[in-house]
Amino acid sequence: MEKTKILIVDDDMAVCTSISLLLKRGGYATRFINRPAEALSVIEEFDPALILLDMNFTVDTSGKKGLQVLGEIREIHTRIPIILMTGWATVQLAVQGMKIGASDFIAKPWDNKQMLSSVKTLLALQEVQKKKEKTATHFEHIIGEDPQFREVLEMAQRVSKTDASVLVIGDSGTGKELIAEAIHYESNRAENPFVKVNLGGISSSLFESEMFGHKRGAFTDASTDRVGRFELADTGTIFLDEIGDLEASSQVKLLRVLQESTFEALGSSQSKKIDFRVVSATNKNLEQMVLNDTFREDLFYRINLIKLKIPSLAERRGDIPLLVRFFIENLRMTYDSPDLRVHRDAMSWLEKQSFPGNIRQLRNLVESTVLTSRNPYLQVEDFKRQYQGSALRAQQVKLPSVGAISLEEMEVRMIKKALTFHNNKIADTARALGITRSALYRRLAKYNIPYES
Ligand SMILES: Nc1ncnc2c1ncn2[C@@H]1O[C@H](COP(=O)(O)OP(=O)(O)OP(=O)(O)O)[C@@H](O)[C@H]1O
Ligand SMILES: [Mg+2]
Repeated sequence: MEKTKILIVDDDMAVCTSISLLLKRGGYATRFINRPAEALSVIEEFDPALILLDMNFTVDTSGKKGLQVLGEIREIHTRIPIILMTGWATVQLAVQGMKIGASDFIAKPWDNKQMLSSVKTLLALQEVQKKKEKTATHFEHIIGEDPQFREVLEMAQRVSKTDASVLVIGDSGTGKELIAEAIHYESNRAENPFVKVNLGGISSSLFESEMFGHKRGAFTDASTDRVGRFELADTGTIFLDEIGDLEASSQVKLLRVLQESTFEALGSSQSKKIDFRVVSATNKNLEQMVLNDTFREDLFYRINLIKLKIPSLAERRGDIPLLVRFFIENLRMTYDSPDLRVHRDAMSWLEKQSFPGNIRQLRNLVESTVLTSRNPYLQVEDFKRQYQGSALRAQQVKLPSVGAISLEEMEVRMIKKALTFHNNKIADTARALGITRSALYRRLAKYNIPYES
């Protein structure tokens, strides 16, 4: 078994070596750095289970530098246990550190026994926490009490542990992607990649290069090798979104990979074998398409071992208040506006409206109403004003034409746009993009997008 890794950050070499020795004797693997500025990149690479962080770096002894580094680490790594160390232990500093997210506090000169016991306890707690989270499932963030909807969710939960191919169908905005994600993160592949592909956005001429990758020189524009989506999804799940929009010629190619789990990159004669699980989604009626000969029957059966049909919001109006409350709760935090609430009349008015854009539309409506209303106590009128435009907006995000731009390029542009709009504020940018801060950091690194923190 691999040893548990511990990172020591202290500018005093003697301290580092002696703690390192102590921990190694305790059975841990260690690494130490003397410059706090390196902490983030080393954490990324070394992936420690616990960090020992000095508070007083040579620059000053106020503990400020230590607190700052602690804060920076916590921004990205919300859970690694961090033990603070200082030669100038003051209770106040300890309290400040704990507030920012330190897990424990040790005064120098330290007591070996105490140090080891603190490390051991924190690591054990971390394990318990991880186990707890495993039992609190990803399905719990999916709101809805409607019996028909619950049945779909329970089925999704049951099949998530298997490798069965799942087809999620439902109207636009009903939560297909949300459920596909939950299935992956509840599966045994949760720690492995979840790769989304919008098949509606891939023209047949780009299909192979996008899905299977290509070798340099395979065609005129192929100036470098490219790794395809299937390869990225190895050991994980591939989410084939909008599968009903796939052109006939691409359907054949997809079928072959699904049947054989092998493919060749464009310009390569070497077959690659990949281990993946398939979850697909569409708002099209595939059965009808099979009858019309616009969707291959063999492909349909291949992706459709388990079918999950999500009811539209109109079929589960009773869930509207629950969803509204859920969105409002999130917005309270997002906008730091604890007084946000919805008047009873407004709630019953909402329950009667039609939402062709389903949950996405409802969510947009609640959000734009919160943003445009002066009073945090939201009334019918506030919602009415926003409602008119919301149906249109729900469906009309203008996208570039198919083949004009790759998904990745679009992602890069959107991230840059959001960064500029939010003056490089990471938290705001992540929120605007609907992803977590760490997910944003990962993308910034992946695409080499410069930013100031
Ligand atoms: N049951 C739910 N509880 C909470 N949020 C939900 C629920 N269902 C959907 N949402 C939210 O509604 C939005 C739309 O969901 P999602 O993207 O999964 O829909 P979709 O079915 O994939 O839509 P489309 O067909 O347009 O691609 C997302 O912001 C999602 O988080
Ligand atoms: Mg979707």
